[in-house]
Amino acid sequence: MSAALAVRGLKAGYGGKHILHGVDLDVPAGTALTIVGPNGSGKSTLLKAIAGLVPALDGTIQLGDTPITRLDARARARLGLAYVPQESNIFRNMSVRENLRLGWEFRPDRRTGAPLSYKLDEILDLFPEILPHLNTPAGLLSGGQRQMVAVASAMMLEPRLLVLDEPSAGLSPRNASLLFEIIDRIRGTGLTLLMIEQNVQLGLAAADHGLVLVMGRVRRTAAAAELAADDTLAELFLSADRRGAPAQPTS
Ligand SMILES: Nc1ncnc2c1ncn2[C@@H]1O[C@H](COP(=O)(O)OP(=O)(O)O)[C@@H](O)[C@H]1O
Ligand SMILES: [Mg+2]
Repeated sequence: MSAALAVRGLKAGYGGKHILHGVDLDVPAGTALTIVGPNGSGKSTLLKAIAGLVPALDGTIQLGDTPITRLDARARARLGLAYVPQESNIFRNMSVRENLRLGWEFRPDRRTGAPLSYKLDEILDLFPEILPHLNTPAGLLSGGQRQMVAVASAMMLEPRLLVLDEPSAGLSPRNASLLFEIIDRIRGTGLTLLMIEQNVQLGLAAADHGLVLVMGRVRRTAAAAELAADDTLAELFLSADRRGAPAQPTS
């Protein structure tokens, strides 16, 4: 199986301080990989480095057949990498429809693909929950609906790789489950997915593979079902917490 994304020996950090200490990661085309790990272990930094928002200090990143390590975030987006950050991922003053339309306007290959109305229908099939709110300013929706708008807008880009940083952050358990039902539907379309999830069981249930990142290093990679059934995983989080990291993200 060809890798939609291949990361090798990736080092990255902030202001000379290394956070990632040589990360290897593969996402085979058409599969979903969920990254889990204690708070502060570098999960968001890893996704930012993949999206081109934090420079790689060492190592390589390849999207399909294309080395992207030296490309800026825009160029990576143009190659089909859609990154949804944990926060500020929608235009709150614009309607839901405008948010979705913007995604479509910025899709990498504007010469191909469906007209806007067809694409909207296709995406709203996946996100029926936001259909009644198309003309509502996105900022007025509930947290769960706002996350759906963020993911739906990214889908309007017709990406080849969808990257989600903690899509369920701040959502009630019910809304988090609802969002993951949608992520399951997205997987059903064959799209390649890379995501971080703080709810380990929820995140692994939605993935083919899981990766445990601890203090900027890959501790384990395995089939998602195998990781989900692994009792030692909880211990890994607890021991990291005992070293001083906060127990769970609060937002
Ligand atoms: N913009 C930044 N500037 C400096 N340090 C940062 C920045 N963002 C994150 N960090 C630090 O990098 C480490 C990893 O953070 P992050 O990648 O957000 O971890 P996670 O997503 O696993 O919780 C933390 O120690 C955090 O304080
Ligand atoms: Mg994070």
